[in-house]
Amino acid sequence: MSSSHFIAVALFCIAFLLAGGISVSHAQLSSTFYDQTCPNVTNITRGVIQNALLSDPRIGASLIRLHFHDCFVNGCDGSILLNNSDTIDSEKEAARNNNSVRGFGVVDDIKTALESACPRTVSCADILAIAAEESVSLANGTSWTVLLGRRDGTTANRTGADISLPSAVDTLDTLKSVFSAVGLNTTDLVSLSGAHTFGRAQCPTFSGRLYNFNNTGNPDPSLNTTYLGTLRGICPENGTATGLANLDLTTADTFDNNYFSNLQVGNGLLQTDQELFSTTGADTIDIVNNFSSDQNAFFASFGESMIKMGNIGVLTGSQGEIRLNCALVNANSSGSESYLHSSIETRDDAEYKYAI
Ligand code: HEM
Ligand SMILES: *[C@@H]1O[C@H](CO)[C@@H](O)[C@H](O)[C@H]1NC(C)=O
Ligand SMILES: *[C@@H]1O[C@H](CO)[C@@H](O)[C@H](O)[C@H]1NC(C)=O
Ligand SMILES: *[C@@H]1O[C@H](CO)[C@@H](O)[C@H](O)[C@H]1NC(C)=O
Ligand SMILES: *[C@@H]1O[C@H](CO)[C@@H](O)[C@H](O)[C@H]1NC(C)=O
Ligand SMILES: *[C@@H]1O[C@H](CO)[C@@H](O)[C@H](O)[C@H]1NC(C)=O
Ligand SMILES: *[C@@H]1O[C@H](CO)[C@@H](O)[C@H](O)[C@H]1NC(C)=O
Ligand SMILES: *[C@@H]1O[C@H](CO)[C@@H](O)[C@H](O)[C@H]1NC(C)=O
Ligand SMILES: *[C@@H]1O[C@H](CO)[C@@H](O)[C@H](O)[C@H]1NC(C)=O
Ligand SMILES: *[C@@H]1O[C@H](CO)[C@@H](O)[C@H](O)[C@H]1NC(C)=O
Ligand SMILES: *[C@@H]1O[C@H](CO)[C@@H](O)[C@H](O)[C@H]1NC(C)=O
Ligand SMILES: *[C@@H]1O[C@H](CO)[C@@H](O)[C@H](O)[C@H]1NC(C)=O
Ligand SMILES: *[C@@H]1O[C@H](CO)[C@@H](O)[C@H](O)[C@H]1NC(C)=O
Repeated sequence: MSSSHFIAVALFCIAFLLAGGISVSHAQLSSTFYDQTCPNVTNITRGVIQNALLSDPRIGASLIRLHFHDCFVNGCDGSILLNNSDTIDSEKEAARNNNSVRGFGVVDDIKTALESACPRTVSCADILAIAAEESVSLANGTSWTVLLGRRDGTTANRTGADISLPSAVDTLDTLKSVFSAVGLNTTDLVSLSGAHTFGRAQCPTFSGRLYNFNNTGNPDPSLNTTYLGTLRGICPENGTATGLANLDLTTADTFDNNYFSNLQVGNGLLQTDQELFSTTGADTIDIVNNFSSDQNAFFASFGESMIKMGNIGVLTGSQGEIRLNCALVNANSSGSESYLHSSIETRDDAEYKYAI
């Protein structure tokens, strides 16, 4: 063919690849990805989490939340783990993450164990996906087949985190559109919200419901009055708001379907939790009732939705890289100190600074 014809065909192919790139790449994830190169990856990850749980019963909840906040922002590319640098405005310090997401030290411990067993092989993005599943399993919840082969991104997107992560005071319609923006439907929204069956939330994320809800001068009418009293005890009006409440008041650290039975009696902690059941006429009510009466239905749906969430915008093949240190892109993993700029603490008792 003529050279101009050749160039035209080549340009067409490049444009086609660019257009198709991210949306089809998840097809390349596979449950057997590390079978030859790191056969013990799940076992090693589980061991580190099991050990961390001995001193921190909340850590499994914190780890699954990291995977969620990773996937919703520029896809599941480990970007939430990156520290600030000259070129990176970390997602860790985005309003909905700063002083709220936690578990980075345990991710680093998993990474260290994996680098020792199988150097330069397992991505940080995959660590989060495996850790999420193992955390649910260790909390006596369900298991699912984790798809693997994600590569780590080399950028973070703080603005993306501000836009793409849901807020605890979003309306149900907003929650639906935030989920639908990443390809998750209403069933996924309800099943994945069931992750609030374990873990904690800080007062500022729900205290708007306790005293002067929506400028009414009264508490949120959908909040159970007994529970209201309990929560007011944890978060006094105009208090310093360092309090923490269990997201599931019945079985705080167990992964079960009590989250959904809580919603049926007004015992959802966050406004966004209770809205799934208390929004008049909503199509989410039947799904809550289903999961409340049928734990197996919840578990099956949860696994399916987690796999779907884990497929969002993944990098595969030769895209991205396998980070050596989950907090740093490889180019800057040694030598210069210019990347050691993070101003946030990853402390476990974060003070009130969290933006709802
Ligand atoms: C539906 C929209 C969601 C909203 C508005 C939301 C909001 C929140 C908020 C405000 C907290 C407390 C943070 C703090 O006080 O520092 C929290 C905690 C948590 N979230 Fe969500 N979340 C949502 C969906 C999800 C999803 C999809 C998952 C996982 C699949 C998840 C897992 C968790 C877990 C496990 C915790 C407890 C973390 C810990 O104890 O460290 N959430 N969420
Ligand atoms: C896999 O990892 C576990 C936990 O770290 C360890 O006890 C076990 O010996 C390892 N098995 C193999 C085959 O490497
Ligand atoms: C890892 O696998 C080994 C056997 O290969 C087993 O003895 C050990 O208990 C496993 N560890 C975990 C944390 O599952
Ligand atoms: C590495 O750090 C240098 C100096 O801070 C910076 O100019 C460069 O863009 C960084 N590279 C990457 C890939 O982050
Ligand atoms: C994150 O929180 C820390 C500690 O409260 C604060 O110093 C820092 O300015 C916050 N980061 C941003 C980007 O707001
Ligand atoms: C950051 O995220 C926003 C919102 O999703 C998106 O519009 C923007 O293109 C992203 N920026 C980069 C550099 O990925
Ligand atoms: C808050 O009040 C506004 C105006 O009165 C109303 O439109 C809105 O639906 C209320 N929001 C909630 C969550 O009740
Ligand atoms: C809390 O602050 C508001 C506004 O400043 C005030 O009206 C209210 O009386 C205070 N409540 C208590 C219990 O101090
Ligand atoms: C899981 O079940 C075991 C056995 O019944 C129990 O000892 C353990 O406390 C449970 N763990 C959680 C987090 O519910
Ligand atoms: C409030 O919650 C308690 C359990 O914590 C439940 O027994 C009671 O029925 C609930 N009240 C309403 C009105 O749903
Ligand atoms: C829940 O929904 C599933 C899937 O539609 C269905 O198979 C199951 O029977 C439902 N369970 C209940 C208790 O409604
Ligand atoms: C929503 O997604 C789930 C998979 O997570 C799927 O089973 C279900 O059919 C979807 N529902 C609708 C209405 O598309
Ligand atoms: C990333 O930032 C955290 C919090 O400031 C810090 O503890 C950690 O050492 C940093 N990691 C690296 C590799 O710089």
